[in-house]
Amino acid sequence: MSRIARRGALIVLEGCDRSGKTTQCRKLVDALNTDGIPAQLWRFPERDTAIGQVVSDYLERKCELDDHAVHLLFSANRWELVPKMLETLKNGTTLVIDRYAFSGVAFSAAKESLDFEWCKKSDVGLPRPDLILYLNLGVEAAAQRSEYGGERYEQKPFQKRVAENYAALMDDDWKVIDAAKGINELHDELKSIVKNFVLKGDVHGEPVGKLWT
Ligand code: TMP
Repeated sequence: MSRIARRGALIVLEGCDRSGKTTQCRKLVDALNTDGIPAQLWRFPERDTAIGQVVSDYLERKCELDDHAVHLLFSANRWELVPKMLETLKNGTTLVIDRYAFSGVAFSAAKESLDFEWCKKSDVGLPRPDLILYLNLGVEAAAQRSEYGGERYEQKPFQKRVAENYAALMDDDWKVIDAAKGINELHDELKSIVKNFVLKGDVHGEPVGKLWT
């Protein structure tokens, strides 16, 4: 007797720097696994690949790169992991991803040299997330958080433009979450949304879509 394979869900957390995404992604994956839902935490940039290493050096100001070139490297860093992403989803594992193509556009297009529509092009056709959660935190509140300012883009005027670009990318399917609350309260809210979404099972019989097509 044949059985329809249940694929994992592709879930993305987005937001400005220091909005709490990394902590929340980690807690979400732990909670899903504890509840018997196979899940993995991924992040972009994935700094452990050769491309990701160059991106990481750029972010840490160890090297300079043309704005177009670094945008394409961020994008290539996603494309190089697509085969593994699709395989993992096919095997029934849900992926919780800390940043994706939306960061690619929101951050690159905050630079005066790069056009918003041009920035989208290199990510057209990537696996489309089934669920996008946007952690909304004001630029002033983010700047108060520890370690702010360590990396290249952590400056208030830049982050304001990033937030405007996110607003331009958002559609009704995005879930916008107030990230100003405490870590545990935010976790409970995200966990409830994600668990309901995964258990509803809408994605199980659906192929993974293609972004911006
Ligand atoms: P992280 O702090 O989440 O590791 O992200 C590193 C920085 O890289 C953050 O400032 C957002 C930025 N970024 C881009 O500029 N383009 C991208 O495509 C991604 C994924 C992140």
